[in-house]
Amino acid sequence: MISLTIDGVAVEVAEGASLLDACRAVAREQPTLCHAENLTPANACRVCVVELEGSRALVPACSREAEDGMVVATDSERVRHSRRMVLEFLASSTDLSLAGVDAWLEDYAADPGRYGPPAEASARDGRRPGHHPVPDGMRAETVAQDVKVDNDLYVRDYSRCILCYKCVDACGVDAQNTFAITVAGRGFDATISTEFAVALTASACVYCGNCIGVCPTGALMFRSEHELRAAGLWDEDAQSVTRTVCSYCGVGCNLELHVQENRIVKVTSPMDDDITSGHLCIKGRFGYDYVQELGDLATTPIDEVLAGVRGEGGTAAR
Ligand code: SF4
Ligand code: SF4
Ligand code: FES
Repeated sequence: MISLTIDGVAVEVAEGASLLDACRAVAREQPTLCHAENLTPANACRVCVVELEGSRALVPACSREAEDGMVVATDSERVRHSRRMVLEFLASSTDLSLAGVDAWLEDYAADPGRYGPPAEASARDGRRPGHHPVPDGMRAETVAQDVKVDNDLYVRDYSRCILCYKCVDACGVDAQNTFAITVAGRGFDATISTEFAVALTASACVYCGNCIGVCPTGALMFRSEHELRAAGLWDEDAQSVTRTVCSYCGVGCNLELHVQENRIVKVTSPMDDDITSGHLCIKGRFGYDYVQELGDLATTPIDEVLAGVRGEGGTAAR
């Protein structure tokens, strides 16, 4: 076992545990965005940094391995200042309204508005490295852009993207090994992109949806959820989540059916399932229509939207 101190509290963790594991062992949860239990740490967002005695730089709690004798502070002024800056940069340039960070913004007294009003949306694909438009200094530069809706299964709203790399890693060696998306461009112009920024339908994507499953900000979203939100019908408080086993093959992947008004509105997979670790294939994640064929039964507003997503008519198709 490894013995260390978190905010003055002695803790023992197993060898190989991270500082985040140690923090959790003493009930000191830390903010994280790019971290996920089912992915290799990317160290991209830096919102989890903590102060480590003897270390010149703050260290990311999500990936730094715990060592014997470490003395760690998670709430020092230096940590708070760093987290405040990270949150302000992200919130001033990105739409974090679905990222669940409001409590952190308040806790760290982040003031994204101090960079000025947000700049307008603009096309960001295909910008040339080194040719970043000069900011006018009056508005906060943003990644605001149109939502990419190019298939029936999921949408990409990169105005919400914090470039955490989770989707890239889930599409790559951490889960899917398809490598349909990666980071393109440099600096503030960097974006998550398919090859040559083609539509998903023309890319290598196989629609496993594992990128959606790990996205922390809602940038990647089920088409069903996107359309229901647009119609003002999405209501998480009215949804139940039922765990079951996928019926397609013999692997036995666990599914979580998100149900609103007796309709499946999306499907996820639990992280704690040994078989999937939160990941699925296209059939498990998207192939649930057969249990609720709507046809002439599409009578409620939710039915109409879901039917439209499938091209069966209804509000989303009009
Ligand atoms: S749906 Fe699957 S294959 Fe397509 S981009 Fe996402 S992770 Fe990659
Ligand atoms: S799309 Fe989502 S998962 Fe991918 S880099 Fe952006 S925020 Fe992260
Ligand atoms: S959560 Fe640790 S660097 Fe992003």
